[in-house]
Amino acid sequence: MLKPLFWDDGCLRLLDQRLLPHEEKWLDLTTWQEVRSAITDMAVRGAPAIGICAAYGMALAAKNADDLEPARLGLASARPTAVNLAAALDRIMEATVLDFEGILSIAKSMEREDLDTNLAIGKNGAKLVPDNANVLTICNTGSIATAGHGTALGIIRTAHEQGKVRQVWSCETRPRLQGLKLTAWELMKDEIPFCSVVDSAAAALMRSAQVDIVIVGADRIATNGDTANKIGTYMLAILAKHHGVPFIVAAPRTTFDLTAPDGSRFVVEERGDREITHIEEVRLAPEGCPVFNPAFDVTPGELLTYIVDETGVHEPPYAF
Ligand code: MRU
Repeated sequence: MLKPLFWDDGCLRLLDQRLLPHEEKWLDLTTWQEVRSAITDMAVRGAPAIGICAAYGMALAAKNADDLEPARLGLASARPTAVNLAAALDRIMEATVLDFEGILSIAKSMEREDLDTNLAIGKNGAKLVPDNANVLTICNTGSIATAGHGTALGIIRTAHEQGKVRQVWSCETRPRLQGLKLTAWELMKDEIPFCSVVDSAAAALMRSAQVDIVIVGADRIATNGDTANKIGTYMLAILAKHHGVPFIVAAPRTTFDLTAPDGSRFVVEERGDREITHIEEVRLAPEGCPVFNPAFDVTPGELLTYIVDETGVHEPPYAF
């Protein structure tokens, strides 16, 4: 099974997702500051993966005898939207013994638990996938966005093992192209039939009845089901509602922010202009072109058909 990271001989080994699918290069991270940069620069991304990565960052801080509070604050601010990051750091700070061995053992437990969680999400969600399904998804919610198997892509994987998936429509996911680069890479490795499409193809595909179900991940879910996820998710939910296509959000409990009654106060990360104005090193936009680059949007809970977690399937009105 693909994994984005593992602990090895005193350092965190991290698959550099910025270089995929062309190069599989592993980074050796030995300080919490390196872990922070890896999260901010998106060498690792995906809500569960960044939470686990931050936990290992805290283990590195303890190993190097750094003060833990600045490490916690630095890691917590590496990316603001995915609540898994804060949840992982809170779990560590609540531990009774905050030494290296203790923190490392919590980080390893989080990694193991996340894999078990995703296998359960896969099983719970596959029940919702009809036979011979054309499934549309966005971003990358697979093995490398988690400790393995994935959330939305985990459901697709499990449903494919059960022979239910005809084809996946994988939205390219502008601007960083996690769909085109990472989801395509994972689907090819698992020999799951798929087709990459530009994000703006979704409406036409739904109108021509070529989508039976939409399955996406989440970065933060409020008590009323409002869900922050990759920019473009809200648009897909409106399209799915209009065309009568079931719309599923898949996420572990660590993605639920039950302190938030709704998504109105979710912090949506804004990333740099270059992600839009350039592709790799090539400038496409005119010099000085103004851009706005929110990395996520918030989909109202009432647009979702179901939310699937490791405990089961939830439908509105939600009582998590
Ligand atoms: O900016 P990214 O690549 O970290 O965004 C990832 C997503 O939006 C995923 O859908 C979400 O984190 C769930 S990953 C299992």
